[in-house]
Amino acid sequence: MFYLECINCNEKYSHLDIVYTCKKCGDLLTVVYNYDELSQKIKFSKWKKRVLSVWRYKELLPIIDESKVVSLGEGGTGLYRCARLEKEIGVKKLYLKNEGENPTGSFKDRGMTVGITKALEYGVKAVVCASTGNTSASLSAYAAKAGIKCIVVIPAGKIAYGKLAQAIVYDAKIIQISGNFDDALKMVFKLSLERGDIYLLNSVNPYRLEGQKTLAFEVVDQLKGLIPDNVIVPVGNAGNISAIWKGFFELKKLNLAEKLPKMFGVQAEGAAPIAKAVKNGEETIKPILNPETIATAIRIGSPVNWKKAINAIKQSNGGAEIVTDAEILEAQRKLAKLEGLFVEPASASSIAGLKKLVENGRISRDETIVCVATGHGLKDPDTPVKLLGGKTVKINVNFEEFKKILEK
Ligand code: F0G
Repeated sequence: MFYLECINCNEKYSHLDIVYTCKKCGDLLTVVYNYDELSQKIKFSKWKKRVLSVWRYKELLPIIDESKVVSLGEGGTGLYRCARLEKEIGVKKLYLKNEGENPTGSFKDRGMTVGITKALEYGVKAVVCASTGNTSASLSAYAAKAGIKCIVVIPAGKIAYGKLAQAIVYDAKIIQISGNFDDALKMVFKLSLERGDIYLLNSVNPYRLEGQKTLAFEVVDQLKGLIPDNVIVPVGNAGNISAIWKGFFELKKLNLAEKLPKMFGVQAEGAAPIAKAVKNGEETIKPILNPETIATAIRIGSPVNWKKAINAIKQSNGGAEIVTDAEILEAQRKLAKLEGLFVEPASASSIAGLKKLVENGRISRDETIVCVATGHGLKDPDTPVKLLGGKTVKINVNFEEFKKILEK
């Protein structure tokens, strides 16, 4: 069985109650299992008999009633060796975990399959989230599959087109606000505290993060038991890096991993409160009032999971990096051009960050590196078309003209 525990004061909460943060001190909660009991039951060889997916690891997921599981086939995403990019960046072993292959095109689906299943277990009327785009797309899809009402609150005009299209077609109630993501999150948090029948599925919800930790299990499975030396993750609200670290940590606790990776978080220059704090050796973050970046998915100034993320980075002996919009776009192009992988700008920040971390000696060129690409490139088609559209050529229907153009 499992329970929730405050990461600050260790107050414990039953899984029967809906609670998002500690009622005593207000800090974040985490899910704790009976690891002694689980270590008798769990083996990678047993898991291998199940299909590679979030639910392969169901013993480590906080679900009571398996018959309620809502799944669209999440997880089981590719882990690609990037031989051409390795040469370009000057590293020996680079893998990309391509989370764009999830059902709605981002890693959020790992969390939502668990989160919506919890919503059904609790018997709530509706689910709600604030979002920079992907969370709203994912939650809308899983709510649709479960037949439950979904409310999403997004910053008006600031989410990528593909993501908005998804939430619209999955039939969520979409509310665009004049503020940014941080304002939206405050509103939905307040709503879910006032209305116990509306379940909050942002990453402050510790159950959602349980689904996301399965990325770590899959990486170890795909590397045949090898633990990578470094894992690099784009950071926005900071749930994902915390979840992935928890996944590795649990494997170690269960004697399924002999070591732990170093966790590196990458943020965009205009929205980098966590990376700044880590780089300056500070214990807390200074929120950014008006975050700005072309990577709209991670345009967040006051990340709710900052403490978990800083813990993950510190405990793992990892680090943080800050990348500019130009560096993000260059990494996006390189990944597409050299590896055939089209990821959205926020996702490419892990590659942009890797380049810098290697250049400044924080990551050794000989070590094994896994970069997490969090969302699919088609989520945000406008950015490359706007910036690179000039690369296309227009001609008349004329074969001679066509051949001439090819010689240029
Ligand atoms: N990459 C992508 C593509 C994202 O959509 C997000 C977060 C992140 C990285 C950062 O993950 O928040 O766990 O640190 N998107 C959220 C959303 C905030 O609303 O879709 P994080």
